[in-house]
Amino acid sequence: MCGIIARIGDGDAVDTLLTGLTNLEYRGYDSAGVAVKNGSGLSVHKHEGKISQLESRVRQSSPGGQIGIGHTRWSTHGPPTDENAHPHTDCTGSIAVVHNGIIENHDTLKAELEARGHEFESETDTEVIPHLLEERVEDGESLDTAFRNVTQQLDGSYAVAAVSKDSDAIYATRRGSPLVLGIGDDCHYLASDVPAFLEFTDQVIYLEDGDVVTLTYDSYEITDPDGSPVAHDVRTIDWRPEDAEKGRYDHFMRKEISEQPTSLAQTIEGRIQMNGQGESSSPSQTDSGSLTDRRTAADGAPTATDGETTTNVSADADGTATTPVDELAASDWVPGINLEEFPPGSFSDLSSIQFVACGTSYHAALYGQQMLARRGVSSQTFRAGEYAMLPAPVDEDTLVIGVTQSGETADTLQSLRRAAEGGARTLALTNVVGSTAARECDDAMFIRAGPEIGVAATKTFSSQVVSLAMLAERIVRDQTGAPSEDSDRLLPELMNIPQMVDRVLEETNAEDVINRYRGQDSYFFIGRGIAHPVAMEGALKFKEITYEHAEGFAAGQLKHGPLALVTPRTPVFAVFSGRHTDKMLSNVEEVQARGAPVIAIVSEDNDRVIDTADDAITIPESHPDVAGLLANVQLQLVAYHVADYLDRPIDKPRNLAKSVTVE
Ligand code: F6R
Repeated sequence: MCGIIARIGDGDAVDTLLTGLTNLEYRGYDSAGVAVKNGSGLSVHKHEGKISQLESRVRQSSPGGQIGIGHTRWSTHGPPTDENAHPHTDCTGSIAVVHNGIIENHDTLKAELEARGHEFESETDTEVIPHLLEERVEDGESLDTAFRNVTQQLDGSYAVAAVSKDSDAIYATRRGSPLVLGIGDDCHYLASDVPAFLEFTDQVIYLEDGDVVTLTYDSYEITDPDGSPVAHDVRTIDWRPEDAEKGRYDHFMRKEISEQPTSLAQTIEGRIQMNGQGESSSPSQTDSGSLTDRRTAADGAPTATDGETTTNVSADADGTATTPVDELAASDWVPGINLEEFPPGSFSDLSSIQFVACGTSYHAALYGQQMLARRGVSSQTFRAGEYAMLPAPVDEDTLVIGVTQSGETADTLQSLRRAAEGGARTLALTNVVGSTAARECDDAMFIRAGPEIGVAATKTFSSQVVSLAMLAERIVRDQTGAPSEDSDRLLPELMNIPQMVDRVLEETNAEDVINRYRGQDSYFFIGRGIAHPVAMEGALKFKEITYEHAEGFAAGQLKHGPLALVTPRTPVFAVFSGRHTDKMLSNVEEVQARGAPVIAIVSEDNDRVIDTADDAITIPESHPDVAGLLANVQLQLVAYHVADYLDRPIDKPRNLAKSVTVE
């Protein structure tokens, strides 16, 4: 939600700022602006609309200069207008500020400033900052001191950068909003996210809350709010600049869908051992507090406790007991799970597991919950924005997993903080190494999907799901002392996912099929079990980029209300995972009886479903936990092709932003 960039050093500031803003446009795209310090003062350009519009106007006036700040906006206070675009300046136009976040006490500060004669040009919360700086500088404070003092007056969340026509420095700080320092050979950068300056440098410092940064032509200094030096490691980013570029694709979303074989290979790399020597157990799990002792068998998987050890009796798709895990563990060949972050035993003593997440990440978390439940471990999944309202009880043996691509989603961060305050152990499952979630949580597991620029999450959902599959297996092994009953089938298939997704992408008929169903009243997505979060995710993707009405349901819920909406003009996408096929087919027939056409997303060898549905988009035959992911790739393509046909701004849907850093 808003992106900021700042740079000081050799070369033309405008070029770097525009490049940075273009790479940050996914964070906000309703207006943009830059302020460049040149010989005669500050040259400020800011406009409603896209960065390309800003660029043509800035280039016309060509403000030369080596120091500058820029901003791309996603409106929170005041509509997208030229006046509300950042940077904002003080009364004299000497100081310019860009800001990401929300200043919660801006009303009070603004009223006080106006009473003292300051005139405001915008409706934003941000504009109080340059006016507060102006007052302090007029009172004789150095800009450095004024900047520190002003940030102490601000409540809320912010990443702020300021320049003055009277200073050869950039001042910046963060609290609750991301800010990364880029260290180049002859230029330094600050930005909300690494892609902003990745083509100029891969050396970065992830700043912490309270850090104050002073950039000059040849130095950078990081201090705490009182001015004491702060040391942080410089990290080398291993993303390539082209990872954050569209390349031959029309849209980032299409590129990111296509990248999934590679991103999934990165997610898995080194984490599953297929050499037949995989560790199979953690230290004995007999603690009466262990989750498996309390398994709810929500999915019908039976459990048994023989006094000393908990025995996980495996179940087939219908819940019929099959092979005891102990026998599998003793077999010659058990794939290993090698999560460096979590050696065996890391999750032995959990009393409960909770997931907190938003949007697509929430659907991935539900998928994770299903995978755990299938393996006999109960957990709960919360929409992060509702977590504090419940409130969910936690103790020191509760593991709270924040699933968040960006690691910056305010609702998720707040939930994790609340859980930590209650004594819970927190774990960030995230794509961004230096993100707030990764830094604040007790543990972090990285999904390694590479940068995702399209606002609609695609490849990161898949990498979240695969990461959660591996994490679930680690948890089960720690809880039970043995691999899950189907790990000898699931883990090899997880290893093979890049190839299976590649096949889906090569052979997909999603575009042909959806061409037959365009222009309808509404689109429904249904699924059971693991296919339920996939149906919800399919609907979310569809609505957010096509602007057509879509809803995802648990298939069994249709008859409790939504069926009233089903007509011949409401195509229904039915997601089949390979489990619950009979019940799903009943639901298919229910909607067909009301005239709705059904498009099955189903394994290519399931003739029964293919023959029953009106159309089918097929996926390779696979383990149900993998099938959900493959089906989701097809639904990503369905949404993409409809949005492309309708000529929607696919990478930047209206009213949305990639990273939602306000609650
Ligand atoms: C939808 C989408 C959003 C995000 C949500 C959470 O395509 O991308 O629903 O999933 O805003 O974001 P993260 O995962 O960064 O916490």
